[in-house]
Amino acid sequence: MTITATEVLAGLDLTGRRMIVTGGTSGIGLATARALAGAGAEVTVTARRPLEIPGLRVATVDLTDLASVRAFTDRWDGPLHALVANAGVMAVPDRRLSPAGWELQLATNFLGHFALATGLHPSLREAGDARIAVVSSGAQLRAGVDFEDLHFERRPYDPWTAYAQSKSADVLLAVEIAKRWAPDGVVANASDPGRIHTNLQRHVDDATMRAMGAMDEAGNLLHPDGYKTPEQGAAPATMLAAAPIPGGVTGRYFEEDRTEAAVVPGGPRAESGVAGWSMDPEAAARLWELAGRALRTA
Ligand SMILES: NC(=O)c1ccc[n+]([C@@H]2O[C@H](COP(=O)([O-])OP(=O)(O)OC[C@H]3O[C@@H](n4cnc5c(N)ncnc54)[C@H](OP(=O)(O)O)[C@@H]3O)[C@@H](O)[C@H]2O)c1
Repeated sequence: MTITATEVLAGLDLTGRRMIVTGGTSGIGLATARALAGAGAEVTVTARRPLEIPGLRVATVDLTDLASVRAFTDRWDGPLHALVANAGVMAVPDRRLSPAGWELQLATNFLGHFALATGLHPSLREAGDARIAVVSSGAQLRAGVDFEDLHFERRPYDPWTAYAQSKSADVLLAVEIAKRWAPDGVVANASDPGRIHTNLQRHVDDATMRAMGAMDEAGNLLHPDGYKTPEQGAAPATMLAAAPIPGGVTGRYFEEDRTEAAVVPGGPRAESGVAGWSMDPEAAARLWELAGRALRTA
């Protein structure tokens, strides 16, 4: 039986710990936020539209809009003990750009979280022992960050390559934060939640869902071996945000079973592990510089 986020936190009292979960309106983010709040943490979830969720604080933030992220981080006051960078979009069918001119999946999944983390850095520092848990994906094995053509200006746009690039960028975000903010006591890691039916598949057509074994001919969702509930998919990020982890474990990537991944060559046939391109410290530093420039010029 696969462990749930609530089970990961069994016996822990998070009272007094202040946490943010992005994309906490549905799927893995909502399950993560509920588990953290259930263990006593004060949890703020970000949502694109104003809404109420019992037991959680809700802030309106659109990660593709850097001004919206900035307005939120400017309002945040006091320490922040954990940031779960979970919000995401997958396989957006057409090439779209954010207001800052970034390809939409990279803008949402990576750049918005970069802006959020850097805007909240003083609060993370104030906590003294803050955690950042970045929700990446096994898709990071399929493609790294293409620094020659980040926004698909010269290569044909491919929805899945753009998703893979954004999920590699997510791991690189954890790698670079781990290095830069270690003196502030900030620990940052990334993880794969596994496969879960959520709103994330909204752009995936029925033929692809069937080819994945996740839908029958009548359009009913199937749960092939290895599919999880959102509560189970939330377990790795919840562990990285709030459960005890060994000292010095930072800048790493964890598999869906919460074990640390081996570094492997990425590619179409890679099945597990973390791609070398997702852990590359030079790529992490280069992406950080590009993101910082985007923030300064937005
Ligand atoms: N489900 C899987 O099988 C799977 C596998 C590997 C990795 N993941 C990763 O897990 C994370 C959570 O996905 P999920 O499966 O739980 O999907 P989900 O149910 O669609 O949740 C995604 C969340 O992100 C939010 N979001 C999307 N665009 C946003 C934006 N521009 N600004 C702010 N928030 C935005 C969504 O808000 P709205 O409600 O407003 O759309 C929603 O709350 C993602 O990072 C995804 O890449 C999922």
